[in-house]
Amino acid sequence: MGTLFTKAWVLHDVVRQPERAQLVEQTYTFPDITSCEVLAKPLYGCLEANMLHALQRDPIDICRERNEGAVVLGNAGVVTIDRVGSAVTELNAGDTCIVFGNGIWDEQGYPIKIMGYDAPGTMGVLAKTMKLHERQLIRIPASSSFTLEQWASFSLRYVSAWANWRVAYECWKSQMSGVATHETVVCAWGGGVSFAQLTLAKRLGCRVLMVCSQPERLDMLQREGIDAIDRSPFSDADFEEGILSAIADKTEGKGVSIFIDNIGTPVHRVTLKALARQGVVTTCGWKLGMRTHVARAIECLSRHIHVHTHFAKYQEGLDAVRYAEEHSWMPPHPERVWNWDEIPAMFRDYAAGNIATYFPVFAINA
Ligand SMILES: NC(=O)c1ccc[n+]([C@@H]2O[C@H](COP(=O)([O-])OP(=O)(O)OC[C@H]3O[C@@H](n4cnc5c(N)ncnc54)[C@H](OP(=O)(O)O)[C@@H]3O)[C@@H](O)[C@H]2O)c1
Repeated sequence: MGTLFTKAWVLHDVVRQPERAQLVEQTYTFPDITSCEVLAKPLYGCLEANMLHALQRDPIDICRERNEGAVVLGNAGVVTIDRVGSAVTELNAGDTCIVFGNGIWDEQGYPIKIMGYDAPGTMGVLAKTMKLHERQLIRIPASSSFTLEQWASFSLRYVSAWANWRVAYECWKSQMSGVATHETVVCAWGGGVSFAQLTLAKRLGCRVLMVCSQPERLDMLQREGIDAIDRSPFSDADFEEGILSAIADKTEGKGVSIFIDNIGTPVHRVTLKALARQGVVTTCGWKLGMRTHVARAIECLSRHIHVHTHFAKYQEGLDAVRYAEEHSWMPPHPERVWNWDEIPAMFRDYAAGNIATYFPVFAINA
Protein backbone atom coordinates (compact mmCIF):
# COMPACT_ATOMS: atom_id res chain seq x y z
CA MET A 1 0.00 0.00 0.00
CA GLY A 2 1.33 3.45 -0.91
CA THR A 3 1.95 6.38 1.37
CA LEU A 4 0.30 9.80 0.96
CA PHE A 5 1.45 13.23 2.12
CA THR A 6 -0.49 16.33 3.03
CA LYS A 7 -0.07 19.67 4.73
CA ALA A 8 -1.80 19.56 8.14
CA TRP A 9 -2.12 21.23 11.54
CA VAL A 10 -0.92 18.46 13.86
CA LEU A 11 -1.16 17.77 17.60
CA HIS A 12 1.93 16.07 19.03
CA ASP A 13 2.22 13.83 22.06
CA VAL A 14 3.40 15.06 25.44
CA VAL A 15 6.96 13.84 24.79
CA ARG A 16 7.36 16.28 21.87
CA GLN A 17 5.21 18.98 23.47
CA PRO A 18 5.76 18.71 27.24
CA GLU A 19 4.87 22.33 28.05
CA ARG A 20 1.58 23.06 26.35
CA ALA A 21 -0.07 21.29 23.44
CA GLN A 22 -0.36 23.42 20.32
CA LEU A 23 -1.05 22.85 16.66
CA VAL A 24 2.04 22.56 14.44
CA GLU A 25 1.84 23.02 10.66
CA GLN A 26 3.77 20.24 8.95
CA THR A 27 3.71 17.56 6.29
CA TYR A 28 1.69 14.63 7.59
CA THR A 29 2.11 11.11 6.22
CA PHE A 30 -0.65 8.50 6.07
CA PRO A 31 -1.32 5.18 4.32
CA ASP A 32 -3.29 5.16 1.06
CA ILE A 33 -7.01 4.38 1.25
CA THR A 34 -8.30 0.84 1.81
CA SER A 35 -11.22 -0.59 -0.19
CA CYS A 36 -13.83 0.87 2.24
CA GLU A 37 -12.26 4.33 2.45
CA VAL A 38 -12.32 7.53 0.42
CA LEU A 39 -9.73 10.21 -0.20
CA ALA A 40 -11.18 13.68 0.25
CA LYS A 41 -10.34 17.38 0.33
CA PRO A 42 -11.79 19.16 3.36
CA LEU A 43 -13.38 22.45 2.26
CA TYR A 44 -14.59 23.86 5.59
CA GLY A 45 -14.25 22.72 9.19
CA CYS A 46 -15.97 23.80 12.37
CA LEU A 47 -14.12 24.22 15.64
CA GLU A 48 -15.60 21.84 18.20
CA ALA A 49 -15.21 21.65 21.96
CA ASN A 50 -13.61 18.19 21.61
CA MET A 51 -10.73 19.74 19.64
CA LEU A 52 -10.06 22.03 22.57
CA HIS A 53 -10.38 19.14 25.04
CA ALA A 54 -7.72 17.37 22.90
CA LEU A 55 -5.34 20.36 23.04
CA GLN A 56 -5.88 20.65 26.78
CA ARG A 57 -5.20 16.89 27.06
CA ASP A 58 -8.24 16.83 29.33
CA PRO A 59 -10.23 14.73 30.20
CA ILE A 60 -7.93 12.39 28.23
CA ASP A 61 -4.61 12.67 26.42
CA ILE A 62 -5.69 11.44 23.00
CA CYS A 63 -2.15 10.84 21.69
CA ARG A 64 -1.50 8.54 24.64
CA GLU A 65 -4.95 6.96 24.33
CA ARG A 66 -4.30 6.24 20.63
CA ASN A 67 -0.64 5.38 21.23
CA GLU A 68 0.30 7.74 18.39
CA GLY A 69 2.91 10.48 18.36
CA ALA A 70 0.95 12.83 16.09
CA VAL A 71 -2.78 13.30 15.49
CA VAL A 72 -4.77 15.39 13.00
CA LEU A 73 -7.90 16.67 14.77
CA GLY A 74 -11.23 17.78 13.35
CA ASN A 75 -14.48 15.83 13.25
CA ALA A 76 -16.83 18.48 11.88
CA GLY A 77 -16.75 19.81 8.36
CA VAL A 78 -17.52 19.49 4.69
CA VAL A 79 -15.34 17.63 2.19
CA THR A 80 -15.32 16.90 -1.52
CA ILE A 81 -14.37 13.38 -2.58
CA ASP A 82 -11.29 12.87 -4.79
CA ARG A 83 -11.18 9.09 -5.02
CA VAL A 84 -13.10 6.10 -3.60
CA GLY A 85 -11.95 2.60 -2.65
CA SER A 86 -13.01 -0.44 -4.67
CA ALA A 87 -15.68 -1.58 -2.12
CA VAL A 88 -17.31 1.85 -1.66
CA THR A 89 -20.87 1.66 -2.97
CA GLU A 90 -22.74 4.80 -1.86
CA LEU A 91 -20.28 7.58 -2.69
CA ASN A 92 -18.48 8.79 -5.83
CA ALA A 93 -15.61 11.09 -6.72
CA GLY A 94 -16.94 14.65 -6.89
CA ASP A 95 -19.58 14.20 -4.12
CA THR A 96 -19.74 16.87 -1.44
CA CYS A 97 -20.43 15.49 2.03
CA ILE A 98 -20.54 16.34 5.68
CA VAL A 99 -18.16 14.53 7.98
CA PHE A 100 -19.92 12.02 10.25
CA GLY A 101 -17.59 11.53 13.20
CA ASN A 102 -18.41 8.00 14.31
CA GLY A 103 -14.94 6.39 14.41
CA ILE A 104 -15.56 2.92 15.88
CA TRP A 105 -19.10 1.71 16.47
CA ASP A 106 -20.76 -1.10 18.44
CA GLU A 107 -22.93 -3.82 16.94
CA GLN A 108 -25.97 -1.51 17.06
CA GLY A 109 -24.05 1.24 15.26
CA TYR A 110 -23.63 3.54 18.28
CA PRO A 111 -20.21 5.18 18.60
CA ILE A 112 -17.53 3.82 20.89
CA LYS A 113 -14.78 6.14 19.66
CA ILE A 114 -14.80 9.30 17.57
CA MET A 115 -12.78 9.89 14.37
CA GLY A 116 -10.25 12.70 14.47
CA TYR A 117 -10.33 12.32 18.25
CA ASP A 118 -9.90 9.09 20.23
CA ALA A 119 -10.32 6.51 17.41
CA PRO A 120 -6.81 5.22 16.56
CA GLY A 121 -5.58 5.62 12.99
CA THR A 122 -8.23 8.17 12.01
CA MET A 123 -7.51 11.67 10.77
CA GLY A 124 -9.58 14.85 10.95
CA VAL A 125 -10.23 17.86 8.74
CA LEU A 126 -7.22 19.94 9.84
CA ALA A 127 -5.42 18.69 6.73
CA LYS A 128 -5.45 19.65 3.05
CA THR A 129 -6.17 16.00 2.15
CA MET A 130 -7.64 13.31 4.38
CA LYS A 131 -9.00 9.80 4.28
CA LEU A 132 -12.18 8.50 5.87
CA HIS A 133 -14.29 5.36 5.98
CA GLU A 134 -17.34 5.68 3.68
CA ARG A 135 -19.56 5.52 6.81
CA GLN A 136 -17.88 8.70 8.04
CA LEU A 137 -19.48 10.78 5.31
CA ILE A 138 -23.06 11.78 4.48
CA ARG A 139 -23.79 13.33 1.10
CA ILE A 140 -25.21 16.86 1.24
CA PRO A 141 -28.63 16.88 -0.49
CA ALA A 142 -28.45 17.90 -4.15
CA SER A 143 -29.49 21.56 -4.65
CA SER A 144 -29.40 22.16 -0.90
CA SER A 145 -30.80 25.54 0.17
CA PHE A 146 -27.91 25.96 2.58
CA THR A 147 -24.28 26.99 2.26
CA LEU A 148 -21.34 24.65 2.74
CA GLU A 149 -20.30 26.77 5.73
CA GLN A 150 -23.68 26.03 7.35
CA TRP A 151 -23.31 22.32 6.65
CA ALA A 152 -19.84 22.41 8.25
CA SER A 153 -21.41 23.89 11.41
CA PHE A 154 -24.19 21.30 11.24
CA SER A 155 -21.90 18.31 10.83
CA LEU A 156 -21.19 17.39 14.46
CA ARG A 157 -23.19 19.64 16.77
CA TYR A 158 -26.55 19.26 14.98
CA VAL A 159 -26.22 15.50 14.51
CA SER A 160 -25.31 15.10 18.22
CA ALA A 161 -28.27 17.29 19.11
CA TRP A 162 -30.64 15.25 16.92
CA ALA A 163 -29.57 11.95 18.48
CA ASN A 164 -29.67 13.21 22.08
CA TRP A 165 -33.03 14.93 21.59
CA ARG A 166 -34.59 11.78 20.13
CA VAL A 167 -33.88 9.81 23.32
CA ALA A 168 -34.65 12.67 25.74
CA TYR A 169 -38.01 13.46 24.16
CA GLU A 170 -39.05 9.79 24.09
CA CYS A 171 -38.14 9.58 27.80
CA TRP A 172 -40.23 12.67 28.60
CA LYS A 173 -43.20 11.28 26.71
CA SER A 174 -42.86 7.91 28.46
CA GLN A 175 -44.16 9.53 31.66
CA MET A 176 -45.85 12.72 30.44
CA SER A 177 -47.64 11.90 27.20
CA GLY A 178 -50.70 13.89 28.37
CA VAL A 179 -48.81 17.20 28.43
CA ALA A 180 -49.27 19.40 25.35
CA THR A 181 -46.07 20.37 23.56
CA HIS A 182 -46.68 24.09 24.20
CA GLU A 183 -46.61 23.27 27.94
CA THR A 184 -43.36 21.31 27.61
CA VAL A 185 -40.52 23.59 28.74
CA VAL A 186 -37.06 22.84 27.40
CA CYS A 187 -34.14 24.72 28.96
CA ALA A 188 -30.42 24.48 28.22
CA TRP A 189 -26.96 25.63 29.02
CA GLY A 190 -23.98 24.90 26.88
CA GLY A 191 -23.11 26.04 23.40
CA GLY A 192 -23.87 24.97 19.85
CA VAL A 193 -25.22 21.51 20.66
CA SER A 194 -27.70 22.89 23.18
CA PHE A 195 -28.67 25.68 20.79
CA ALA A 196 -29.32 23.11 18.04
CA GLN A 197 -31.47 21.03 20.38
CA LEU A 198 -33.55 24.02 21.44
CA THR A 199 -34.20 25.04 17.84
CA LEU A 200 -35.37 21.47 17.23
CA ALA A 201 -37.63 21.51 20.31
CA LYS A 202 -39.06 24.84 19.16
CA ARG A 203 -39.97 23.35 15.79
CA LEU A 204 -42.00 20.72 17.67
CA GLY A 205 -43.87 23.47 19.53
CA CYS A 206 -42.10 23.30 22.92
CA ARG A 207 -41.34 26.42 25.00
CA VAL A 208 -37.58 27.02 24.88
CA LEU A 209 -35.16 28.80 27.23
CA MET A 210 -31.36 29.13 27.15
CA VAL A 211 -28.91 30.38 29.75
CA CYS A 212 -26.06 32.33 28.16
CA SER A 213 -23.64 35.16 28.85
CA GLN A 214 -22.68 37.42 25.95
CA PRO A 215 -24.67 40.20 24.22
CA GLU A 216 -24.04 38.62 20.78
CA ARG A 217 -25.52 35.35 22.05
CA LEU A 218 -28.50 37.06 23.61
CA ASP A 219 -29.17 38.68 20.20
CA MET A 220 -28.77 35.38 18.37
CA LEU A 221 -31.17 33.62 20.73
CA GLN A 222 -33.69 36.41 20.32
CA ARG A 223 -33.44 36.12 16.52
CA GLU A 224 -34.21 32.39 16.82
CA GLY A 225 -37.18 32.98 19.16
CA ILE A 226 -35.41 31.40 22.15
CA ASP A 227 -36.10 33.04 25.51
CA ALA A 228 -32.71 33.88 27.09
CA ILE A 229 -31.54 34.05 30.69
CA ASP A 230 -28.38 36.13 31.06
CA ARG A 231 -26.08 34.45 33.59
CA SER A 232 -23.47 37.23 33.57
CA PRO A 233 -24.97 39.41 36.37
CA PHE A 234 -24.67 36.56 38.89
CA SER A 235 -21.61 35.99 41.07
CA ASP A 236 -20.64 32.54 42.35
CA ALA A 237 -22.45 33.39 45.59
CA ASP A 238 -25.84 34.20 44.05
CA PHE A 239 -25.62 32.08 40.85
CA GLU A 240 -27.82 29.21 42.04
CA GLU A 241 -30.50 31.38 43.56
CA GLY A 242 -30.46 33.79 40.61
CA ILE A 243 -30.79 31.13 37.91
CA LEU A 244 -33.44 29.16 39.80
CA SER A 245 -35.48 32.28 40.40
CA ALA A 246 -35.24 33.31 36.71
CA ILE A 247 -36.36 29.82 35.63
CA ALA A 248 -39.20 29.81 38.18
CA ASP A 249 -40.39 33.19 36.82
CA LYS A 250 -40.36 31.96 33.25
CA THR A 251 -42.13 28.65 34.03
CA GLU A 252 -44.77 29.97 36.45
CA GLY A 253 -42.99 28.02 39.17
CA LYS A 254 -43.52 24.68 37.43
CA GLY A 255 -39.90 24.05 36.50
CA VAL A 256 -38.26 22.60 33.44
CA SER A 257 -39.60 19.54 31.60
CA ILE A 258 -36.36 18.70 29.75
CA PHE A 259 -33.06 20.29 30.81
CA ILE A 260 -30.14 19.99 28.37
CA ASP A 261 -26.95 20.24 30.43
CA ASN A 262 -23.74 19.93 28.42
CA ILE A 263 -21.69 21.86 31.01
CA GLY A 264 -21.50 19.35 33.87
CA THR A 265 -19.87 19.67 37.28
CA PRO A 266 -20.31 23.35 38.24
CA VAL A 267 -23.95 23.64 37.16
CA HIS A 268 -25.43 20.15 37.50
CA ARG A 269 -26.86 20.77 40.97
CA VAL A 270 -28.80 23.77 39.63
CA THR A 271 -29.95 21.72 36.63
CA LEU A 272 -31.50 19.09 38.89
CA LYS A 273 -33.11 21.68 41.17
CA ALA A 274 -34.69 23.43 38.18
CA LEU A 275 -36.37 20.23 36.92
CA ALA A 276 -40.10 19.73 37.23
CA ARG A 277 -41.50 16.46 38.55
CA GLN A 278 -41.03 13.71 35.95
CA GLY A 279 -38.45 16.00 34.36
CA VAL A 280 -35.67 14.73 32.10
CA VAL A 281 -32.07 15.86 32.43
CA THR A 282 -30.19 15.11 29.24
CA THR A 283 -26.57 15.41 28.20
CA CYS A 284 -23.98 14.42 25.65
CA GLY A 285 -21.29 16.77 27.00
CA TRP A 286 -19.16 17.68 29.99
CA LYS A 287 -17.63 21.01 28.99
CA LEU A 288 -16.61 21.99 32.55
CA GLY A 289 -16.32 18.64 34.31
CA MET A 290 -17.57 15.09 34.03
CA ARG A 291 -18.19 14.21 37.66
CA THR A 292 -21.53 15.04 39.26
CA HIS A 293 -23.21 14.31 42.57
CA VAL A 294 -26.71 12.89 42.58
CA ALA A 295 -28.99 12.38 45.59
CA ARG A 296 -30.57 9.19 44.29
CA ALA A 297 -33.56 9.25 46.67
CA ILE A 298 -34.56 12.75 45.58
CA GLU A 299 -34.18 11.85 41.89
CA CYS A 300 -36.35 8.74 42.41
CA LEU A 301 -38.99 10.59 44.42
CA SER A 302 -39.17 13.26 41.70
CA ARG A 303 -39.22 10.58 38.99
CA HIS A 304 -36.42 12.33 37.11
CA ILE A 305 -34.99 10.53 34.10
CA HIS A 306 -31.27 10.97 33.39
CA VAL A 307 -30.29 10.61 29.72
CA HIS A 308 -26.70 10.19 28.53
CA THR A 309 -25.81 9.80 24.85
CA HIS A 310 -22.69 10.02 22.75
CA PHE A 311 -22.87 11.38 19.17
CA ALA A 312 -25.04 9.25 16.84
CA LYS A 313 -25.40 6.15 14.74
CA TYR A 314 -25.29 6.45 10.96
CA GLN A 315 -29.05 6.24 10.42
CA GLU A 316 -29.52 9.09 12.91
CA GLY A 317 -27.07 11.15 10.86
CA LEU A 318 -29.04 10.43 7.67
CA ASP A 319 -32.32 11.29 9.44
CA ALA A 320 -30.89 14.54 10.82
CA VAL A 321 -29.67 15.64 7.38
CA ARG A 322 -33.01 14.86 5.73
CA TYR A 323 -34.99 16.68 8.45
CA ALA A 324 -32.63 19.67 8.30
CA GLU A 325 -33.09 20.17 4.56
CA GLU A 326 -36.86 19.66 4.70
CA HIS A 327 -37.51 21.85 7.77
CA SER A 328 -34.76 24.47 7.40
CA TRP A 329 -33.20 23.32 10.69
CA MET A 330 -29.79 24.88 10.19
CA PRO A 331 -27.20 26.95 12.02
CA PRO A 332 -26.90 30.51 10.72
CA HIS A 333 -24.46 31.28 7.89
CA PRO A 334 -21.29 32.52 9.66
CA GLU A 335 -20.45 36.22 9.64
CA ARG A 336 -16.76 35.35 9.62
CA VAL A 337 -14.80 32.40 8.24
CA TRP A 338 -11.23 32.01 9.55
CA ASN A 339 -8.55 31.03 7.00
CA TRP A 340 -6.01 28.20 7.21
CA ASP A 341 -3.23 30.34 8.68
CA GLU A 342 -5.53 31.77 11.35
CA ILE A 343 -6.50 28.36 12.79
CA PRO A 344 -4.15 28.31 15.84
CA ALA A 345 -5.12 31.87 16.77
CA MET A 346 -8.77 30.90 16.40
CA PHE A 347 -8.25 28.02 18.86
CA ARG A 348 -6.63 30.40 21.35
CA ASP A 349 -9.44 32.96 21.06
CA TYR A 350 -12.09 30.26 21.42
CA ALA A 351 -10.37 28.86 24.53
CA ALA A 352 -10.20 32.35 26.02
CA GLY A 353 -13.95 32.84 25.45
CA ASN A 354 -13.34 35.61 22.89
CA ILE A 355 -15.38 34.05 20.07
CA ALA A 356 -19.08 34.69 20.46
CA THR A 357 -20.45 32.45 17.72
CA TYR A 358 -21.48 28.92 18.67
CA PHE A 359 -20.17 27.75 15.25
CA PRO A 360 -16.63 28.97 14.46
CA VAL A 361 -16.02 27.91 10.85
CA PHE A 362 -12.62 27.79 9.12
CA ALA A 363 -11.70 27.31 5.45
CA ILE A 364 -9.27 24.57 4.44
CA ASN A 365 -9.36 24.28 0.65
CA ALA A 366 -12.17 26.75 -0.06
N1 LIG B 1 -20.73 13.39 23.07
C1 LIG B 1 -21.14 14.08 22.02
O1 LIG B 1 -21.82 13.58 21.15
C2 LIG B 1 -20.80 15.52 21.92
C3 LIG B 1 -21.00 16.21 20.73
C4 LIG B 1 -20.73 17.56 20.69
C5 LIG B 1 -20.25 18.19 21.82
N2 LIG B 1 -20.02 17.48 22.95
C6 LIG B 1 -19.53 18.11 24.18
O2 LIG B 1 -20.56 18.93 24.73
C7 LIG B 1 -19.99 20.02 25.43
C8 LIG B 1 -20.61 21.31 24.92
O3 LIG B 1 -20.28 21.44 23.55
P1 LIG B 1 -20.83 22.64 22.69
O4 LIG B 1 -20.21 22.49 21.36
O5 LIG B 1 -22.29 22.72 22.77
O6 LIG B 1 -20.27 23.83 23.54
P2 LIG B 1 -19.46 25.09 23.11
O7 LIG B 1 -20.01 25.56 21.80
O8 LIG B 1 -18.02 24.82 23.26
O9 LIG B 1 -19.91 26.15 24.19
C9 LIG B 1 -19.88 25.95 25.56
C10 LIG B 1 -20.74 27.05 26.18
O10 LIG B 1 -20.74 26.87 27.55
C11 LIG B 1 -21.19 28.06 28.14
N3 LIG B 1 -20.59 28.15 29.45
C12 LIG B 1 -19.28 28.31 29.72
N4 LIG B 1 -19.09 28.33 31.05
C13 LIG B 1 -20.31 28.17 31.62
C14 LIG B 1 -20.77 28.11 32.97
N5 LIG B 1 -19.94 28.20 34.01
N6 LIG B 1 -22.07 27.96 33.17
C15 LIG B 1 -22.93 27.86 32.16
N7 LIG B 1 -22.55 27.91 30.87
C16 LIG B 1 -21.25 28.06 30.61
C17 LIG B 1 -20.76 29.17 27.23
O11 LIG B 1 -21.91 29.95 26.89
P3 LIG B 1 -22.29 31.26 27.70
O12 LIG B 1 -21.01 31.89 28.16
O13 LIG B 1 -23.01 32.10 26.69
O14 LIG B 1 -23.14 30.79 28.83
C18 LIG B 1 -20.27 28.45 25.96
O15 LIG B 1 -20.85 28.95 24.79
C19 LIG B 1 -18.49 19.91 25.21
O16 LIG B 1 -17.90 19.28 26.30
C20 LIG B 1 -18.36 19.02 23.98
O17 LIG B 1 -17.14 18.34 23.92
C21 LIG B 1 -20.29 16.16 23.03
